[in-house]
Amino acid sequence: MPDAVNAAASQTLTLDLGDRSYAIHIGEKLLDTAGALLMPLLKEKRVFVVTESTVMSHQGDRLKAALKSSDIEAKWFILNPGEATKSTTQFESLASSLLAAGIDRSDTIVAFGGGVIGDLAGFAAATVLRGINFVQIPTTLLAQVDSSVGGKTGINMPLGKNLLGAFYQPKAVIIDISTLETLPRRELLAGYAEVVKYGVIDDPDFFSWLENNGPQIVERGAGGANARTYAVAHSCAAKARIVAEDEREHGKRALLNLGHTFGHALEAECGYSGILLHGEAVAIGMIMALDASVRLGLANAADLERVTTHLKDIGMKISAREIGRAMTADALIVHMTKDKKVEAGTIGFVLGGIGSAAVHRGVDLDIIKAVLHDSL
Ligand code: NAD
Ligand code: GLY
Repeated sequence: MPDAVNAAASQTLTLDLGDRSYAIHIGEKLLDTAGALLMPLLKEKRVFVVTESTVMSHQGDRLKAALKSSDIEAKWFILNPGEATKSTTQFESLASSLLAAGIDRSDTIVAFGGGVIGDLAGFAAATVLRGINFVQIPTTLLAQVDSSVGGKTGINMPLGKNLLGAFYQPKAVIIDISTLETLPRRELLAGYAEVVKYGVIDDPDFFSWLENNGPQIVERGAGGANARTYAVAHSCAAKARIVAEDEREHGKRALLNLGHTFGHALEAECGYSGILLHGEAVAIGMIMALDASVRLGLANAADLERVTTHLKDIGMKISAREIGRAMTADALIVHMTKDKKVEAGTIGFVLGGIGSAAVHRGVDLDIIKAVLHDSL
């Protein structure tokens, strides 16, 4: 684990899934060479780029220029930004537009944006004509360290988030750290929660490194580029290792849901709105999971204190009361019982101390209620 980070040179990791293995390219300014990185993957010299207007206004010209310089024809599908775009109606509209534009099975979809675009475009790639190749070019920290890697794609249903989806792996992930320079600080912080998650799950050295280097990662501007590159690469390596071992979430992959059972309940209570971003909910959820772990004798109080101090110092909310929305422990428990990860009627919680997370079922709900109560 380097103290003085010098990770700016671009690097390529592999997510090892046999004949579906793919490269994760990480580096500064990779967007400007995206055409060259895409070329070996294309059967036709054209791509169908799915993106949204905010990403286009900040980073679109760079991708346009990169595709042009490699003589790749591009058809653009520019959607509205925001979670509402991950809907059944927007999915139908996108699928119709792709078909109307003449997409066929030899084509490639490029998902260019944050997790919303990655999930939607990935799901379109999985389903249109029963499968089109796709490449992820993530532009938020959350998408770079989590959603673009591992092949979870999907959309929201009126009944809840991510209820329609598919495991469908991209052919490559191209991560340009410099795209984060235009990302609003609040979004950068939200993505940072997912970075911390990798340390807490099973990598105490990485968590210690984040304690020392986290501030550089979340300060916008070129100064933190080396630290961001290192943190993104380390996170992607962790995710690639976990997904290679358990692609369909029958075991180890479930650890990536640390903080999510609590977090999803908070998000649901806030109506999946801008009141609480996904990563913000995960940060509070991680604290709740550690608190529950301490109460259950699965973690030391010192671990809870360290994670709480780090997230607070970095500028994140660490309790439900800071969200500023009235909610009750009972209402949050009801959301948890409807979680996708409920199995045979029992809620799964990822619990443990820093570096020792494991899935627990049959947890005493009175303890969970006490944790929620103290956070509200
Ligand atoms: P997002 O895609 O909505 O992006 C967040 C905001 O940042 C948007 O306003 C967007 O317009 C803006 N933005 C994106 N890139 C930018 C840039 N470079 N410069 C300036 N602005 C930029 O949100 P997100 O946090 O990236 O993703 C959240 C979604 O990801 C949720 O739908 C969640 O369910 C999903 N998710 C999926 C997985 C998975 O494994 N598939 C994992 C975690 C989260
Ligand atoms: N974001 C959790 C996963 O990919 O499994």
